[in-house]
Formats: sequence, structure tokens, C-alpha cells
Amino acid sequence: MIIAIDGPAASGKGTLGTRLAEHLGLAHLDTGLLYRAVACTLIDQKAALTDIAAATLAAQSLTLDRLADPRLRGASMGEFASVISGYQPVRDALLTFQHQFAAQEGGAVLDGRDIGTVVCPHADVKLFITAAPEERARRRHLELQRRGEPSEYERILNDIRRRDQRDMNRSTAPLKAAADAVTLDTTNLDADAAFEAALAIIKARPAQK
Ligand code: CDP
Ligand code: CDP
Repeated sequence: MIIAIDGPAASGKGTLGTRLAEHLGLAHLDTGLLYRAVACTLIDQKAALTDIAAATLAAQSLTLDRLADPRLRGASMGEFASVISGYQPVRDALLTFQHQFAAQEGGAVLDGRDIGTVVCPHADVKLFITAAPEERARRRHLELQRRGEPSEYERILNDIRRRDQRDMNRSTAPLKAAADAVTLDTTNLDADAAFEAALAIIKARPAQK
């Protein structure tokens, strides 16, 4: 079984993906980490974020163990990832990586921005997770505070809005719900309630494919 989860920043994709994968015994890939890892490699190489050739090479040489680097989770890395994610050759290289992951025996849960539309258009279940920008900023703010990192709510809200616009309006694989995705608005759902709602959607659709 392949489960595709897409949605904007801090909507709860990763949390939901982790829990569904654990519950259903599937592998899980947070594909945002791939874009973050490419951005981080450029920074380590002191290459410019506009260096498409260096970014493409970094994407082609990416390995799973690179995704464990805690620096990838930093707030600025999400912003850098959003910039390099607009380069088609980078997306092409990461598509190969994601296809290999999705093809593993037993199935997988992948979360990102274009899983249901581009990476796994034949996924068994497609979920589009949303939440109001203010709620997403609140969640990110709390998360950074918990990690002891500096955080300012208004700034996070602005960053989230800017990243939403960039991700939704880019020409290559923009953030949008697939036509056959089920949208789940988690503005008023905590992680437990979102998990239960997603599980109900998954259980309601097994006979479809
Ligand atoms: O965790 P958060 O939702 O803040 O970000 P992320 O999922 O780690 O993704 C970081 C950036 O990578 C996004 O803003 C997108 O621009 C890009 N991305 C993408 O283009 N396609 C994906 N499948 C996943 C992430
Ligand atoms: O992967 P994505 O950026 O979409 O979001 P996440 O990393 O799963 O969730 C961002 C933060 O919101 C985490 O601290 C989650 O614990 C929290 N969260 C929440 O408060 N309520 C939810 N329904 C889902 C996530």
C-alpha cells in the first residue's frame, strides 16, 4: 500500500505520516528532508543557493543516512529548501530517489508537496492536510520553543505565508491537492484526532484499487 500525504508547512504531515506508518507497518519518508538535505549540502560546500548544477549534483548523490542530520530540521533550512525546490533538474533527481523508496516491498507512506500529484499519482490513498496559517505558525512556534531555539510568532507566520505562496505558485510541481485526494483540515484537530480521522479515511477506501 502507498499512502501519499501532501500539504503546506506545519500542517502536520510528518507527524501524521510517522504515526500512520507505525500503525500500518509501512516505511515512511518525509520528502521535505530531501530538499532540506540538498540545501544543507550547498551550504556545507559554500555554494550559492542559485547554483543549479551544484544542487543537481547534491540531489543525485543523496543517500538516506544524510537525512538524519539534525541541522536539516532548522527553520532557515526549510526556507532554503523551498528556494532550491523550484529547480526542475533537482526535482528530477529527487524523483528517482522517491520512486525507489515508494517501490520497496511492503509499501510506504510519503509526505511532501507533490506526492499525490507527481511522485505517486497511483497511490492507494491520497490525503491533503491543511490548517489555517495562524494555527500552523502557532505549532511551529511551540515546536521551536520546545527545542530551545529562538522563535518569534509573527516572523514565523510571515515565513509560512511566504513559503505557501512560493510553493503554490511555482511552475514545477506546485503544492496542490490531487483531484482524487481527501482534504483534512486539522485547524481544530490535535495530532491524535488527525490520526484517527486519517485512519477512518484509509479504512473507508480499501476497495477502491
Ligand atoms: O516541514 P515543513 O512543512 O516546514 O517543510 P518541508 O516539508 O521540510 O519542506 C521544505 C520545502 O521543501 C517546502 O517548502 C517545499 O518548497 C519543498 N518540498 C517540495 O518542493 N516538494 C516536496 N515533496 C517536499 C518539500
Ligand atoms: O510535517 P509538517 O511540517 O506538515 O508538520 P509536523 O512537523 O508534523 O507538525 C508541526 C508541529 O505541529 C509539530 O510540533 C506537531 O507536533 C504539531 N501538530 C499539532 O499540534 N497538531 C496536529 N494536528 C499536527 C501536528
